[in-house]
Amino acid sequence: MARLFRDRIASAAAEKKSKIVLAIDPSPSISDVKKFAERTIAVLQEHVCAIKVNFHMILPLSGKELAEINRIAHSYGLQCIADIKLNDIENTNSVAIDHLMGRMGFDSVIANPFIGSDALQDLVKRARKSDGGIIALVYMSHAGAKEGYGLEVDNKRKLYRIFLERASAAGADGIVVGAGNLQIIKEMSVSKLPVYSPGIGAQGGDAEAAARNGADYLIVGRSILESKNPAKTAVDFKEKISSAVSD
Ligand code: XMP
Repeated sequence: MARLFRDRIASAAAEKKSKIVLAIDPSPSISDVKKFAERTIAVLQEHVCAIKVNFHMILPLSGKELAEINRIAHSYGLQCIADIKLNDIENTNSVAIDHLMGRMGFDSVIANPFIGSDALQDLVKRARKSDGGIIALVYMSHAGAKEGYGLEVDNKRKLYRIFLERASAAGADGIVVGAGNLQIIKEMSVSKLPVYSPGIGAQGGDAEAAARNGADYLIVGRSILESKNPAKTAVDFKEKISSAVSD
């Protein structure tokens, strides 16, 4: 049986000695998105365990071009995550998974547990057919997240706690919790699911604090990509994160 996505990314993190997931989001001023992605992966591959691709690349590039970028990332031992926050009916979700994993070679897709327990379970099963994983969005990184993920429902339970239960029951490979929400990251430890934290730097979150409070993977984009020396910045992040967890 093929190894699960969560085991593959754990091995990549151990091999690269890095818990950084690179959010490879080219700024709108970059005209050749594919070349930017290829160059960025070549420069940073030693210092990250995965790339996370969002609409910045998924919309302008063809499926073939995305497949080529994922192939290059895999050749360096990196995992590839599609951040589309999938949130639709079963038929549409399945089509998206088959294109992203079967055709383009993504290892994992971020999905929204808002779709419900059964739909999330179906999604995990569908992803497994392509040896892929699902990461469930439990609490977003921006300030407005509390208006949705932080709502009190069902006898004053927070919606994100219900999303965590859905993710665990569905067999998801991980969950996303914004790095600015340290208390919520801490609360997630009950589940044993790997926690992915975006919102670092540009959105005010702190990588070391998130790691110290239980984030397993730190998603970083602009703070690395837009720095003067991206490789050096990635190394600085990597070292700070590893010293935070070894303290
Ligand atoms: P920056 O440049 O802010 O990029 O480091 C962060 C990347 O992560 C995405 N993002 C999220 N993805 N849940 C997600 O699944 C979130 O709460 C979240 N917050 C940010 C963002 O779109 C960008 O690609």
